[in-house]
Amino acid sequence: MARITFETADGKERTIDIASGQSIMQGAVQSNVPGIDAECGGALSCATCMVYVPAEWAARLPLKTDDEDGMLQFSPHVNERSRLSCQITVDDTLDGLRLKVPASQH
Ligand code: FES
Repeated sequence: MARITFETADGKERTIDIASGQSIMQGAVQSNVPGIDAECGGALSCATCMVYVPAEWAARLPLKTDDEDGMLQFSPHVNERSRLSCQITVDDTLDGLRLKVPASQH
């Protein structure tokens, strides 16, 4: 399990516990985190689960696949910190992770 904090564009924070083995997106949707719409349900075809990962965490996450990278290119708000939260599986090492939700997803 990991405790993960989501910061929305209006500066509000939401911290939730996500069970190991779930994706970050699944945990966020179950807890109604604003801005994580996940319209495709994790099928890697919507990019509405995008989050921004701070630099200090970027290297600690599993690497992006080519498919994730390709999907991100469809988002007009992608930047070098962007990840698709449906593609990151939670384990204990992610405890304390802080993510920003793009303003465009509010
Ligand atoms: Fe659609 Fe992640 S939920 S790409």
